[in-house]
Amino acid sequence: MCGIVGYIGKRDAVPVLLKGLKTLEYRGYDSAGIAVLSGGKLSLRKRQGKLSVLDASLRSDPLQGLLGIGHTRWATHGLPNEKNAHPHLDCSGKISVVHNGIVENFGTLKTQLIQQGHTFRSQTDTEVISHLIECYDEGDLVQAVRRALKEIEGTYAIVVLHKNHPDQILGARKGSPLVVGVGGGEQFLASDVLAFFTYTKKVLYLDDGEIVTLRKNRIAIQNFRGKPVHRNFHRIEWNVSLAEKGGFPHYMLKEIHEQPQAIHRTLAGRLEEEKLSLSFEKKLSSSLLKRIRRVIFFSCGTAWHASLIGKYLFERVAQLPSEVDISSEFRYRHPIVAKDTLAIPISQSGETADTLASLREAKEKGAKVLSICNVVGSTIARESDTVLYTHAGPEIAVPSTKAYTSQLTALYLLSVYLGRLRGALGAKEERAYLKELASLPRRLEEVIKDRHIQEVARECGKRYHTAANFLFLGRGVNFPSALEGALKLKELSYIHAEGYGAGEMKHGPIALINEKLPVVCIAPRSETYDKMASNIQEVRARRGIILSVATKGDPAIAKYSDHVFYIPEVSELFSPILVVVPLQLLAYHLAIESGCNVDQPRNLAKSVTVE
Ligand code: G6P
Repeated sequence: MCGIVGYIGKRDAVPVLLKGLKTLEYRGYDSAGIAVLSGGKLSLRKRQGKLSVLDASLRSDPLQGLLGIGHTRWATHGLPNEKNAHPHLDCSGKISVVHNGIVENFGTLKTQLIQQGHTFRSQTDTEVISHLIECYDEGDLVQAVRRALKEIEGTYAIVVLHKNHPDQILGARKGSPLVVGVGGGEQFLASDVLAFFTYTKKVLYLDDGEIVTLRKNRIAIQNFRGKPVHRNFHRIEWNVSLAEKGGFPHYMLKEIHEQPQAIHRTLAGRLEEEKLSLSFEKKLSSSLLKRIRRVIFFSCGTAWHASLIGKYLFERVAQLPSEVDISSEFRYRHPIVAKDTLAIPISQSGETADTLASLREAKEKGAKVLSICNVVGSTIARESDTVLYTHAGPEIAVPSTKAYTSQLTALYLLSVYLGRLRGALGAKEERAYLKELASLPRRLEEVIKDRHIQEVARECGKRYHTAANFLFLGRGVNFPSALEGALKLKELSYIHAEGYGAGEMKHGPIALINEKLPVVCIAPRSETYDKMASNIQEVRARRGIILSVATKGDPAIAKYSDHVFYIPEVSELFSPILVVVPLQLLAYHLAIESGCNVDQPRNLAKSVTVE
């Protein structure tokens, strides 16, 4: 939530900051602002609304400087208006701060600061940071920031610009991401490498409790106790096209189409010629993994749906008892975690606050942690004992698509690996799974390019975008697919949608069915196909509108459905990865027909870094 950027160097800072903020808009988009320093003058510009409003204002009345900071906001404290937009200044107007996170004790601090004579201009928690730095400002900016941060409880990544220090910008983090981009004669700071990776691919990941000082030609990191820290560089491997729309009208559509390549990257080097080679760092040796008796998955949103599918896979393929928690529930239910437990947080961003907190809780209770993350170097990845990166590439649209299918792919890999390690899988069975796994990129491509699926999705978008509700039904491993279909739909089109295990239909949702309710029935060939087919008839008998997902060559379903999305023949366990594509396209077209912003749906943020 909220994206922050900082720049110091040889270029005009404003376009660099705006370009960076544009890529961070997925983190929040209700207001934006920048501050730049030039000729001893600190200039500020903030606007309510999307970044484009700020951009337009800067075009008509430009600001200039070779260093600056910027912010795109997802409001937590205070309305999304211009006053509450960042950067926030101290009383003197010399110190400006952008912040991502929450200052939990801001109420107490604000009262104290007001009693000391400070004047506040906003309702935000962030503004206390600028005033606290002001309190300790005796000429050494790092020291002032360090002393100010000592008083702050909560989470933060901040970037600070001080009028009297035109040769530096400062960053610090505790609980929210902050990455340094290292250029030649210029340096960058941002919540995500996306913000600067077109300028430099050399990055430094900051750890919690660290302050970084960026000068044009120098970077110095120290911890909150003032001790210098040495950090190695990382190189980002992405190419620029991954972060562009590439001819698609929306990032979401582009990312749907990128799924075959994304899962190909998840498999690369791990499954070659139907042979599996997975190995993990020392802390999670194969002998240790062999001794695992139980798995706990935790995650949020779409990643939670991947985790639910993970449970089916792990129990079936690896015969490992598994449970799944929503991260925000896990940490507050006082879970019993034995030492032979493997905790698997799944997170695209690797920064989701609840998932990170659950990871820490599981670790503290003695679990080993193997995370599945997309963003390399993210906090969850770094705090895990080991990590299985999905390598899906940057996912920019807020609704998750390729991150999800690559998480599923990682789960397939892991379940087969653990199944083999634990002796739960015979050689023949393993070969069959790997063969199917290796064919997934090709089959996914087939689904995505299928004209019929695209046409049905478009037609359903036109016909049903005015529906008030949708119901999604699925069984077994596709019960989570029903949840994911419903989530995509509500995120994108603001149509109320519920996902249900089809067996539960008679326990409530059946009461909703009438001739106005579209019901998406996920019914590829499976162990429970006949039961699903009966459920479809039950919906039909109550005059519900039926949109089915079925296996090519299944003539029966069409008889009872208004529309059918046909996917290729695939074994049940692997079907969620194909099933989800028509659901993604359906949500996309329903949203487009309603004129919704598919890449940045209202009120949402891609990375939820506050609880
Ligand atoms: C937000 C996003 C979802 C995502 C969830 C978990 O809600 O909008 O798309 O699934 O966070 O994010 P993570 O980065 O942990 O996968």
